[in-house]
Amino acid sequence: MGDEAVVGNYSAEGLAGAVLEKAAAVAGSAPLGVEHLALFDELHMGGRLATAQVAEALTVGHGGRVLDVGSGMGGPARSVATRLGPHVTGVDLTPVHVEAAQTLSDRVGLSGITTFQVGDATDLTFEDATFDAAMMLFVGMNVPAKAAVFSEVHRVLVPSGTFVVYDPMRTGPAQPDFPVPWAAGPDASFLATVEEYRSLLTEAGFTVEEEHNLAGLVEQLRQRQTEGEVAGQQEMMSAWFDSEGPVRFRNIASAIREGVVEPRLMVARRR
Ligand SMILES: C[S@@+](CC[C@H](N)C(=O)[O-])C[C@H]1O[C@@H](n2cnc3c(N)ncnc32)[C@H](O)[C@@H]1O
Repeated sequence: MGDEAVVGNYSAEGLAGAVLEKAAAVAGSAPLGVEHLALFDELHMGGRLATAQVAEALTVGHGGRVLDVGSGMGGPARSVATRLGPHVTGVDLTPVHVEAAQTLSDRVGLSGITTFQVGDATDLTFEDATFDAAMMLFVGMNVPAKAAVFSEVHRVLVPSGTFVVYDPMRTGPAQPDFPVPWAAGPDASFLATVEEYRSLLTEAGFTVEEEHNLAGLVEQLRQRQTEGEVAGQQEMMSAWFDSEGPVRFRNIASAIREGVVEPRLMVARRR
């Protein structure tokens, strides 16, 4: 997908305002916190439950420097910064997401430890060895040039730095039914297979040390939402897609249930 198509898919008016309004309604009289925003600003399957797994895999602590590749509205960055204490820098192609991420971090007092900028993951502007760890959540399916992303992340990480990738990956040749949340049709989707991720990461200079299929956790969140928990991510994204929203989410949910697509977490270490 070209940059314009990606930005078009994710651009929506008034993102930060919509998240703040919905999160404030959940918070009620309590002070607005990251945990309220996280119901609406985590734009990947499994939401904050999956982000907690990513945070656990990132071997970085207080004062460390983390890069978030394709940071969206900043939900994962705020969650990792709050849990582990590093400074998180988010880079994203979509300007309205970067603005929303900054506004939301300001609102919960995290603007000092999370920063966001517009940028392309295939051509990062950072110096070599700037970051101690990196993460990328639900971005690769929008990027045909994954080799370029992995080579850039390798360049900006310190030796032995951790790179946690959590992406939807194909398990074989089959594709999901379209549309899905990241693409209206197959021409705009760049889902790669689990094997392709492994070999691209290895060729870029990483050793894949751990892999986890988070389908069970995605199902756990879905179950909680069926039982009444706010399905905020779907609420936010469905509004962008108008009447197509529900079918996009249904299609990816079936693809995961049928095992055509896996929400897979890979922990890679820079060699
Ligand atoms: C599904 S959202 C995930 C956002 C965030 N990682 C999260 O989990 O909440 C995908 C994001 O990837 C961004 N993106 C896609 N291609 C990119 C690229 N080449 N460089 C940087 N960001 C990109 C999009 O703009 C979008 O914000």
